[in-house]
Amino acid sequence: MSKTVEQTLLERRSVRRYTRDAIPQEDVDFIYEAIRNTPTSYNGQQFSVVDVADQELKEKLYALTGQKQIKTCNRFLIFCADYRKITLAAKSKNVPVGVFPATVDGYTVGVIDASLAMMSALTAAESRGLGTCPIGYVRTAAPAQVAELLLLPENVTVVCGLAIGVPRELPDMKPKQPVDLVIHHNVYGSGDMSQALMDYDEKVSHYNRTREGTKSDNDWVSHIVGYYHEGSGYDMLHAVRPHGFLTENS
Ligand SMILES: Cc1cc2nc3c(=O)[nH]c(=O)nc-3n(C[C@H](O)[C@H](O)[C@H](O)COP(=O)(O)O)c2cc1C
Repeated sequence: MSKTVEQTLLERRSVRRYTRDAIPQEDVDFIYEAIRNTPTSYNGQQFSVVDVADQELKEKLYALTGQKQIKTCNRFLIFCADYRKITLAAKSKNVPVGVFPATVDGYTVGVIDASLAMMSALTAAESRGLGTCPIGYVRTAAPAQVAELLLLPENVTVVCGLAIGVPRELPDMKPKQPVDLVIHHNVYGSGDMSQALMDYDEKVSHYNRTREGTKSDNDWVSHIVGYYHEGSGYDMLHAVRPHGFLTENS
């Protein structure tokens, strides 16, 4: 089933339950092509993808992250920042790469490229009627063990995972911030956003209390800040440095 661009973009929601059906090879090929044609910084293509279809490996990644979708999805794509390819190519041509990959902007470039590639894959998959869910825990939950399982070499580090499968649910769409809170015109708006933010917080609370399936008493602010507290405990610097990222102080 193919969807229109409007349906693909405006009716998308994360799907966390999948049937056992395999994704048609034609759809996998389309997703790969969409990934390949991602716009990247300098056209350097500072990313690569590990497509995990092996069930045993998916179970291991589930055990490390606690994210059930990894073992129940058909394909789990892991998007990585990757300077290995340019480093190898430059070595073959005796061109020194320098320290850029190890700088803050080098890491940022890799993360942007990998994230855009994930969005290409997500949009391609959604347009074919497949269900998707990004999985950030594959980066944060156990970085050293995940890198070891995937045999990630130097200059490659995980940015985000993407679970893809045939959907077995159609969750209610989550309310998002109104356009006035998201889009500024020409300059960043100076108006007081507090009331609009509180209205949005209430909207999310209402959604959480009334949505289909598992309901909760979560509001928006406390729930998100809770994630930030959890995230403050991740030692990402020491996770990425052994792979050659963020070792420069600039
Ligand atoms: C970078 C990123 C990482 C995410 N990581 C996870 C995750 O580890 N587990 C999960 O269940 N959902 C994850 N999500 C999905 C978000 O929870 C979801 O996009 C958000 O709640 C909005 O819901 P929607 O996608 O249905 O609009 C992630 C999304 C993004 C963009």
